[in-house]
Amino acid sequence: MTRPSNGNYIVLQNGGRYHARKSLSVYLFLSLDSGIFFFSFYSASGYFPGPLNNLIKMTTFKQRLVRSLVNHGLAVVGCTTVIVTYHFSTSGDERFYRSIVMPIVMKVLDAERAHAFAVWLASKGLVPVDRTGDPEILRTTVFGLPFPNPIGLAAGFDKHGEAVDGLLKIGFGFVEIGSVTPLPQAGNDKPRVFRLMEDKAVINRYGFNSDGHETVRSRLEEQVKSRGHPPGILGINLGKNKTSNNAADDYVKGVQCFSGLGDYVVINVSSPNTPGLRSLQGRQELEKLIDKVIEARSSLPVDVQHPVLVKIAPDLTEVDKEDIAAVVTRKQGGVDGIIVTNTTVARPETLQSSNKKETGGLSGKPLTEMSTQTVSDMYRLTEEIPLSVKVLEFCKIPIIGVGGISTGQDAYDKIRAGASLIQLYTALAYEGPPIVKKIKRELSELLKKDGFKSVEEAVGIDHIKPI
Ligand SMILES: Cc1cc2nc3c(=O)[nH]c(=O)nc-3n(C[C@H](O)[C@H](O)[C@H](O)COP(=O)(O)O)c2cc1C
Repeated sequence: MTRPSNGNYIVLQNGGRYHARKSLSVYLFLSLDSGIFFFSFYSASGYFPGPLNNLIKMTTFKQRLVRSLVNHGLAVVGCTTVIVTYHFSTSGDERFYRSIVMPIVMKVLDAERAHAFAVWLASKGLVPVDRTGDPEILRTTVFGLPFPNPIGLAAGFDKHGEAVDGLLKIGFGFVEIGSVTPLPQAGNDKPRVFRLMEDKAVINRYGFNSDGHETVRSRLEEQVKSRGHPPGILGINLGKNKTSNNAADDYVKGVQCFSGLGDYVVINVSSPNTPGLRSLQGRQELEKLIDKVIEARSSLPVDVQHPVLVKIAPDLTEVDKEDIAAVVTRKQGGVDGIIVTNTTVARPETLQSSNKKETGGLSGKPLTEMSTQTVSDMYRLTEEIPLSVKVLEFCKIPIIGVGGISTGQDAYDKIRAGASLIQLYTALAYEGPPIVKKIKRELSELLKKDGFKSVEEAVGIDHIKPI
């Protein structure tokens, strides 16, 4: 007989934890249930002293017993509901969240309140923890950083860095906070986030509401001081203040302020809700901006110099994309990666919801193909750029693919199109935390089915032409 592999031990351990949790729920149920039954019978017999007895204004023992048993029944239903809810919500049951928890949240709270509530829960650690451990096939190294899995939380959810630990516990391989602006600013007037339920989409025009660099920096420092560096990778997404007329300065301040905190920084030049921001994606503006940011990074001590990424929009022409590819892959003054894509200002014909008329960036399902196509274009354009006419050197930079991912297949499509990592946001708002576990499981299965030993082998595979 062979010794069980480590994998088997892990399965047994997890199984043990599952049974322990289940037994705890059953134990709680039985003890509460019998307690309630005892209480009902006791109260029915009228032996409660003083005020309690006065409250139970009944005449005969029979009447008291009937009423008490009805109360008992109601209490049992209540307790069972509490325990079942506790069990399914802490275990992160996918169907329970998709068909019960999330629809209730959406009925009760508008989009912005639901967002704030979710961040608060995560900041208190009140999240279903993914204890299954990431499969080996999903481990990957990008920008020289070790990612336990390639599924990240996109910018915009934890805008102020309040809930990094809790979000990593859900099972994300990395979390990107922000966009953070140098000075605090309130963003646009409310309402500014809209659900498009029929389309599984969201339109937002938050307009970079931010606590500002200083507050977010001290918050992250506090977290590091009290609990050490969170067990996962942290990205910090930088924005510019609405009233600032020197965008490059705003990003430079961000690079300086967050040096030594987090693992990578993002120059976000693609949000549609800050006037003039997206024009920074133009060739000359982008060149100047990146030069200043890279120069600022180079002047920092080597051990706090983080990878710099640029986040781009899905609404770009072929020429725009060629220009961006040329700038970001420059041998001198290129960046370490690109995030593809932000929300779109387009409104596909297929949209059903009446909220489609709202101004802002559209995210979620209707963005899926558009962003996968942009990932594919940027992979192609950054793969084969000769850096000089004489010396044919090719520079390849990693891509984080984001836009409308809600299944393992969506994630796999972006990886095959050229993404080394992926991120999501809107699908989390519709399906809740269990979506992370689901995508990891489905993605591992798809990779195995196609014979890949690791996720890295599948990156950009759709670009390889059959011989
Ligand atoms: C409500 C909301 C707020 C967002 N805020 C930001 C932001 O501050 N900075 C940023 O770079 N992207 C922001 N995004 C864009 C997301 O990071 C992501 O690029 C986009 O939503 C596409 O992914 P998804 O379809 O999975 O949501 C925001 C998205 C949403 C829905």
